[in-house]
Amino acid sequence: MSQNDFADWMRQIQQRTEAALGNALPDASLAPTQLHAAMRYAVLGGGKRVRPLLVHAAGEIAEAPAERLDHAACAVELIHAYSLVHDDMPCMDDDILRRGKPTVHVEYDEATALLVGDALQTLAFQVLADEAAGIDTAGQVAMIRLLAGASGSRGMAGGQAIDLAAVGKQLSREELEFMHIHKTGALIRASVLLGAHAGTPVAADELRRLDHFAKLVGLLFQVVDDILDAEADTATLGKTAGKDADHDKPTYVSLLGLGDAKRLAQEMLADAHQALAPLGDRAARLRALADYIVYRSF
Ligand code: IPE
Ligand code: IPE
Ligand code: MG
Ligand code: MG
Ligand code: MG
Repeated sequence: MSQNDFADWMRQIQQRTEAALGNALPDASLAPTQLHAAMRYAVLGGGKRVRPLLVHAAGEIAEAPAERLDHAACAVELIHAYSLVHDDMPCMDDDILRRGKPTVHVEYDEATALLVGDALQTLAFQVLADEAAGIDTAGQVAMIRLLAGASGSRGMAGGQAIDLAAVGKQLSREELEFMHIHKTGALIRASVLLGAHAGTPVAADELRRLDHFAKLVGLLFQVVDDILDAEADTATLGKTAGKDADHDKPTYVSLLGLGDAKRLAQEMLADAHQALAPLGDRAARLRALADYIVYRSF
């Protein structure tokens, strides 16, 4: 697969995800109109859509139909968007810029931002439970269980709690890894697994490899987010640069320094490639996505 093929594929998945999200979100003309407008503001027209890309790339390995993958991709992106809205609120990271636009509580107000998060979260599960998802009921329940586990106190929300409790503290390498695996890794891992579960059953050994890859890439994603926060500029990131140091957050950069954090990212990328080696060409897009995650500029 050439770089061009991969870029075309990415654009195509991003476009179909945008359309699916636009359909899943209530129209802004429906009451309560401000809440619906704010939900659409939070979700549409921005973001790299890395989690939907992972759903589709893993789903192809399971030969899942793209329409079915759209549901899983939408659901995980809705949870992610909700997590960003709440992450930016004054009681958490207190950020004013997200995806190049004012954050939801700045554009609207705090109560609206809180409700946007609540409503996006439940919408995610409504989308997964949709009859039109084209998956049998047992499969749907398995996917709902997977996403719920990844989102809750043993997943993303738990990681966010650890993140907030860690402000101003120095964490050990193990503690930092635990935090990152939860706050970011859990949803990335779930994205790969949702895709892998949406088609014909994948052989147990391959599923183990996909899961190992997903865990590595989940942690890797946040290591690179830490590096970008320290190194990139606000205009490129579409969110305020340098805020981890400003807010005294423990990160891979504060723990290891920029050079070692980058070396670690390279090592983890090599391990991620290694995990998928036996899957050959079928995993080419997942490998390319791991590269994209490491070499991304925002
Ligand atoms: C940002 O996620 C928050 C983290 C979990 C690190 P992304 O970097 O995927 O943000 P978008 O969706 O592209 O805006
Ligand atoms: C965010 O981590 C993780 C979640 C939103 C769950 P960060 O706080 O580092 O994300 P950014 O840098 O604000 O996007
Ligand atoms: Mg945060
Ligand atoms: Mg933040
Ligand atoms: Mg960050």
